[in-house]
Amino acid sequence: MVPLIERAVQTHQLTEDELLFLLQSPQADGPLFAAADRVRRHYVGDEVHLRALIEFSNICPNQCLYCGLRAPNTRLARYRLTPQQIVALAQKAVQYGYKTVVLQGGEDPFFTVEVWTPILQQIKALGLVITLSLGERPSEDYRALKQAGADRYLLRIETTDKALYEKYNPGMCFENRLRCLRDLKALEYETGTGVLVGLPGQTLRSLARDILYFKELDADMVGLGPFIPNPDTPLQDAPAPQLAPALKVMALTRLLLPDINIPATTAMETVAPDGRIQALQSGANVVMPNITEGEARLNYALYPGKACAGESPTRCRGCLENKLRAIGRSVSQGSGWHTRKL
Ligand code: 5AD
Ligand code: FES
Repeated sequence: MVPLIERAVQTHQLTEDELLFLLQSPQADGPLFAAADRVRRHYVGDEVHLRALIEFSNICPNQCLYCGLRAPNTRLARYRLTPQQIVALAQKAVQYGYKTVVLQGGEDPFFTVEVWTPILQQIKALGLVITLSLGERPSEDYRALKQAGADRYLLRIETTDKALYEKYNPGMCFENRLRCLRDLKALEYETGTGVLVGLPGQTLRSLARDILYFKELDADMVGLGPFIPNPDTPLQDAPAPQLAPALKVMALTRLLLPDINIPATTAMETVAPDGRIQALQSGANVVMPNITEGEARLNYALYPGKACAGESPTRCRGCLENKLRAIGRSVSQGSGWHTRKL
């Protein structure tokens, strides 16, 4: 076990069967988390990059069985921020001290390239780096959004098990998701992907394949978290979420992709009160504090009990800085680009 982990620390290679073996072994947890922490420190250092998250709309035409934003969920109050509100939040992000904003929402048809273009130009003029998380789009859209100022794009593959993907994302096509991620890489976006860990029917072997897919895609970022059953979705009765399996997939990802950006995710913090700190000590080097305000902040309800939903953006920033200091980590003053060191 330990020699296998040590070899991965040196070579950043593991086969599917070796990944599976480590995922299956509870004794591997501690040594894996420690190894991922060492690799993180060696390649990306002790600085933590903070990205300000703006959840611009919870309107979505899709029906993903795990997600609270799914169109058939009538229990959710829907909202859509105006372009002016989005730009105003980006201005606040600058005041709070953020260098990057992440614009995330459902696949709301209102937000066409024509709507985004002036928003992105105004945000760019503030000197911010822009990450988009707008879901699946045609190649031309990705190209135009890049032209308008977008630098990074997050699109989780969710699972690389095609049958599971198409079961949980009715009407969506796994090949199109792969196409989107290939396009984003070809357009030279810093490309982020990731998966849900713990979906009913998901096997450890499929998680091992997910990690190999991150490497094959040459992902610049990988964000993942535990699947948290949402009572307003068809997966409401799924077993309670667990942090450890998600941390393990994350730690193994750090071993194989040593220099990428890996966020400690809100879903991890939702499952355990110090979930993000545990993640930052098991391979993660990024946190994405939510700066959305008011009703919107409460209604971007992907899953129940979302950490920090009831907090203010200012309090979150302070709270995080304290927590980071307590574990000997500092807030990066840079933009946190992915620089290849391998
Ligand atoms: N539990 C955890 N994560 C979820 N997401 C959506 N629904 C859930 C849930 N119930 C994740 C998806 C999506 C990201 C924005 O949120 O992976 O890509
Ligand atoms: Fe939001 Fe601590 S980070 S309250």
